[in-house]
Amino acid sequence: MEVVTTIAELKEIVRKAKAEGKTIGLVPTMGYLHEGHMALAKAAREENDFIIMSIFVNPTQFGPNEDYESYPRDLERDQKIAESVGVDVVFAPSVDEMYPTDGGIRIHAGRQATILCGASRPGHFDGVLQVVTKLFHLAEPTRAYFGQKDAQQAAIISTLVRDFNFPLEIRTVPIVREEDGLAKSSRNVYLSENERKEAPAIYRGLQLAKEEFLSSKDAEKAIGVAKDYILKNTTTGRIDYIELLAYPDLKPIDDSTKQYLLAAAVFIGKTRLIDNIMFTNK
Ligand code: PAJ
Repeated sequence: MEVVTTIAELKEIVRKAKAEGKTIGLVPTMGYLHEGHMALAKAAREENDFIIMSIFVNPTQFGPNEDYESYPRDLERDQKIAESVGVDVVFAPSVDEMYPTDGGIRIHAGRQATILCGASRPGHFDGVLQVVTKLFHLAEPTRAYFGQKDAQQAAIISTLVRDFNFPLEIRTVPIVREEDGLAKSSRNVYLSENERKEAPAIYRGLQLAKEEFLSSKDAEKAIGVAKDYILKNTTTGRIDYIELLAYPDLKPIDDSTKQYLLAAAVFIGKTRLIDNIMFTNK
């Protein structure tokens, strides 16, 4: 496995792979890899000849009071993990390499980014689309892999690809969880021992809400069930949002809704965790 830090090196590698007629799978990450990222890489490995993983903590998707500086980083450890799941090239650029100039041009994420995480993190998805657009141009992937853990992100990136005719396919991979149900996340390292014990209440709360909704069809009641459960079963839990929406358009549910997204963002202590469940009526 090769590790490159410059755009020039990456482009040369991509040129060669393309000349050999290889399909390219791209796995964008911010590093501090865990089994969730590994599942994306494994899915990419199964479907493509050549796998590029980017590891870049993207400053433009963090708000001024968010955790950009403290976000966990360990490139050496990440390299070993990436190699173990069959990644061919890790692209780990510096901020200056990715953003040498700023002409002030931004991609605005639009309606799908006004709700859920977009409401609590203004500008976040604009930053995600900025970096993902650059990565798509640089890696020229046949397929790009995103986790269902960030369902809103996957939906918004799919819209970008469709609306701007990027010549690639977006693939989404199911959420990988700890044994007690907590969704794997690089941010889980922020949790104290007690917070870590309480954090699975988020997923449990979502499961109970799903059961409630499927039996009563009452979205408000179902969301109330999740909120009550999480607040009763955590000492430091604070709900940012819990919402039930249609997926992937992220519009309010109605009688025609086929796929539901029940999504939550909850602060456990100071750490903001997100999770979701997707389900159909049947
Ligand atoms: P990051 O949080 O590192 O996540 C990289 C990818 O891994 C995302 O597509 C995310 O949905 C997926 N992922 C994270 N945890 C997962 C889990 N438990 N199960 C399945 N997939 C999981 O998301 C980002 O980085 C950034 O916004 C990025 C897209 C790289 C742009 O900077």
